[in-house]
Amino acid sequence: MSSLRVLLTEEQIQARVREMGAEIDRDYPDGNVHMVCILKGACFFMTDLARSLHRDPLLDFMGISSYGKGKTSSGEVKVTKDLDFSVEGADLLIVEDIVDSGVTLNYLINLLEQRKPRSIRVAALLDKPDRRQRPVEVCYVGFRIPDEFVVGYGLDYAEHYRNLRDICILDQPY
Ligand code: IMP
Ligand code: MG
Repeated sequence: MSSLRVLLTEEQIQARVREMGAEIDRDYPDGNVHMVCILKGACFFMTDLARSLHRDPLLDFMGISSYGKGKTSSGEVKVTKDLDFSVEGADLLIVEDIVDSGVTLNYLINLLEQRKPRSIRVAALLDKPDRRQRPVEVCYVGFRIPDEFVVGYGLDYAEHYRNLRDICILDQPY
């Protein structure tokens, strides 16, 4: 039997996302922001973050698969859905659910840099710094969390638990 323990409540998440939105609004004084949601884990974070901004961001979506169905990385990164819009000259904000090994974001940043955006920044709701294998500069971090497997608010285990409003630690998922 698997069990869930609440790590971050809906209220904590919502309050922090609003703070992150205010930071982003402050840092990007002019022009637009091209927000790139990394599917599917960042979908709820993206929609809440976008709605917390006092501007009119472009919303774009990218599918990346780096994990198989379980909890361990396959070490392989694959683009399963590319962006809809050109990013040349754009201020890109990559919106990611969690930075773990850093493999996904390291790959993605290199890929997007080749398309000549004006700037690239990363907003990640969660960061597990202890697990890092590749360097990634994360400009906006919601919460630094310990090395536990978490689900909810978009994060899944084998496609389950994404719609939980809280973020929970998943124990013994077998
Ligand atoms: P990384 O490439 O190892 O940094 O992994 C990033 C991706 O792995 C995230 O976008 C998530 O989809 C997934 N991931 C990493 N840690 C967790 C976790 O604790 N719960 C659910 N998914 C996770
Ligand atoms: Mg996932």
